[in-house]
Amino acid sequence: MEGNSGNREQWGSRFGFIMAAAGSAVGLGNIWRFPYITGKYGGGAFVLVYLAVVIVLGSSLMLAEFAMGRRAKLDSVGTFRKLGGGAWPIVGWMGFFCGFVILSYYAVIAGWTLAYMFKSFGGLMEAAAAGKAGDVFGAFVSDPVQAIAYHGVAMAIVIGVVYRGISGGIEKSCKILMPALFLILVLLIIRSLTLPGAEAGLRFYLLPDFSKLSSEAFLAAVGQGFYSLSLAMGIIITYGSYLGKHEYMPKMTGTIVMLDTAVAIMAGLVIFPAVFAFGVDAGAGPGLTFVTLPIVFAKMPMGAFFSFAFFALLFIAAITSAFSLLEVVVTFAIDELGWSRAKSAIVMGIAIAVLGIPSALSVGGHFPKICGKDFLDAMDFITNNAVMPIGGMLTSFFVGWLWTKGAKDEVTNFGEHDFPFYTVWLWVCRVVAPVCIGLIFITGLKW
Ligand code: PHE
Repeated sequence: MEGNSGNREQWGSRFGFIMAAAGSAVGLGNIWRFPYITGKYGGGAFVLVYLAVVIVLGSSLMLAEFAMGRRAKLDSVGTFRKLGGGAWPIVGWMGFFCGFVILSYYAVIAGWTLAYMFKSFGGLMEAAAAGKAGDVFGAFVSDPVQAIAYHGVAMAIVIGVVYRGISGGIEKSCKILMPALFLILVLLIIRSLTLPGAEAGLRFYLLPDFSKLSSEAFLAAVGQGFYSLSLAMGIIITYGSYLGKHEYMPKMTGTIVMLDTAVAIMAGLVIFPAVFAFGVDAGAGPGLTFVTLPIVFAKMPMGAFFSFAFFALLFIAAITSAFSLLEVVVTFAIDELGWSRAKSAIVMGIAIAVLGIPSALSVGGHFPKICGKDFLDAMDFITNNAVMPIGGMLTSFFVGWLWTKGAKDEVTNFGEHDFPFYTVWLWVCRVVAPVCIGLIFITGLKW
């Protein structure tokens, strides 16, 4: 049933493909997690470690995954079956599982960002100015109707786009949304850096403090790099399966890694100067985004406008990542089950939306905890701390030791001299990546 590989869809243009892949990579991780861990682990010093990690490890695994997908021209399960056989499709199943489960809660948070775009003009600023930003967020997430409705809207958008296909849906949307994201980001950076007192934040964020670098910082960089580049979840394999033979993958991979990293670093230039200028405490994740930042926006002139722009930025980042998650599952249904794209997008999309309901309810306390964790956090833990690292280790091992000849053909398809780092790349896949991912797996297993 290796169905549609003959007349498989393809990306319409190189630019479109890069925007789509960058859309997957640039997500909530870039905006609400990267700046925070950078501040925590030594600012500029951490940025250097992070750069080394994504250049050496992240881009190697991304290239390996693109190579696999382009060669097999199949979904993640079919790719491992065709190139590896035996029990290898299990690694592909892990990708399917991650896409399904991560999207279920990622869409919940995408829904929050959408709601906050509207709330920016609907009383959020007034409430935040009165010290009630936390109450607004609490009331919002514990209202089951709103929590589920916005999740449903986010899923409907994702389904609608993926339904329209690779070039007509995902690529077309990302070609508009990603440049828009970039413009909003630049606008917000200018606003933030011109606030009186911005330098203190800049200093905290970027001044290198090498004393904070530790093995823990290194592992944080590895984990963040993998998550941020959407690796080891079948996504890059899937996007690669729609790539034409004549694309030079090492360069495209470099461009995508660079864009993702640039957005992550730039996000910190929005957050820290603003947070320090108004003397509020910076944290990470939902607390920072939905409670702290509204307080900051409420204190600046035209705050509602900048708040709207910021949540639009987050919404774009989240929704373009969500497209890629659904695409993994949809490509699986097309290639493995022989379904049409329309049926795959609708049926799988609805199933994922249903699985998201417990996550949507859990944050407001309307769903029982799983061994002390909210359902949403439990889903996040299982995918990111357990399944993703195992999949990543196995994928790099597979490319480095077993599927070596095919991989070489794919990554050096423009002639061997055009990919001068081939040997380095090979040994990263063989040894460096499995070891580093193994370490984050072991240290990340604490529930
Ligand atoms: N790369 C995305 C981010 O940085 C997260 C993500 C992971 C998206 C996996 C899709 C799949 O937020």
